[in-house]
Amino acid sequence: MSNAEQRDFWDAQSSWVQFQQAMDTTLQPVLDLVVNTAALKAGETVLDVGCGTGASVAQIAAQVGTEGHVTGVDISTTLISMARSRLEGVPQAELLLADAAETDLSRRYDAVLSRFGVMFFSDTTVAFSNIAQAVKPGGRFVLGTWAWARENPFFMMPAKIVRAQLGEMPPTDRTQPGPFAFENSARIIPMLTEAGLTDVVCTEVALELTVPGTPDDAAQIFVEIGPAKGGMAHFEATDEQRDTVFRSIVSELKKLATPEGIRMPALINLYTARLPD
Ligand SMILES: C[S@@+](CC[C@H](N)C(=O)[O-])C[C@H]1O[C@@H](n2cnc3c(N)ncnc32)[C@H](O)[C@@H]1O
Repeated sequence: MSNAEQRDFWDAQSSWVQFQQAMDTTLQPVLDLVVNTAALKAGETVLDVGCGTGASVAQIAAQVGTEGHVTGVDISTTLISMARSRLEGVPQAELLLADAAETDLSRRYDAVLSRFGVMFFSDTTVAFSNIAQAVKPGGRFVLGTWAWARENPFFMMPAKIVRAQLGEMPPTDRTQPGPFAFENSARIIPMLTEAGLTDVVCTEVALELTVPGTPDDAAQIFVEIGPAKGGMAHFEATDEQRDTVFRSIVSELKKLATPEGIRMPALINLYTARLPD
């Protein structure tokens, strides 16, 4: 997918708005990992790439305070609109509807942060070369991305159910823009280095994600976001097949249910880097 196709795709993702609270709760440990690693100081200026519905912008804004500044940039009208309404009245937060790969940003950021917002560029090196133009010398990068697909049941569980219930999906090239484009750090580190970043390190971090609610609640999310949604669209699933997929997801989620919600292991690739001084 080109960046323009990504824009159309993400414009259509109203499910991220519908399930915003549940997704924010589920993905909070990844946001904490990114923000804590960045060790932001009051007064710093931060660029949040692919900020979606704005949870990360809000958390960063709280850390840098009113003497600091955070710009959330996102390509999706739908998601940035929600971010804008969430962040109304937070003077240090700015939301920008733009393609981070080509928007001309002034060189004023101390840090670039992202939770799951950098894996969708048609050319990662070009995108990061552009983003680097916005960063002060010595500025730091902290990027939370999915590690190996096979280690992430958030995707593998619904994908397996689609295969079992509907059939084999066409093979996906996970080096293309998509949630797993950054899974292989040996492929990504040279791209970030070519873009001008230095000290690029990727650390695999094992986390637990908790999808709030009952298995039935959580299954509503899994049929609207991710591989089950894609698979059912691909196979043009009938209502009956949709129901079967839903019930299969519920039965898998029951195995992971706790009083706090559905607990799933996740493996994250945490990339850190900086611009040369
Ligand atoms: C998986 S979502 C993550 C959203 C948010 N960071 C979060 O963790 O909730 C990926 C985000 O990247 C955005 N995105 C994709 N391509 C982009 C681009 N070229 N420039 C800016 N944002 C982009 C999408 O619109 C979407 O909001």
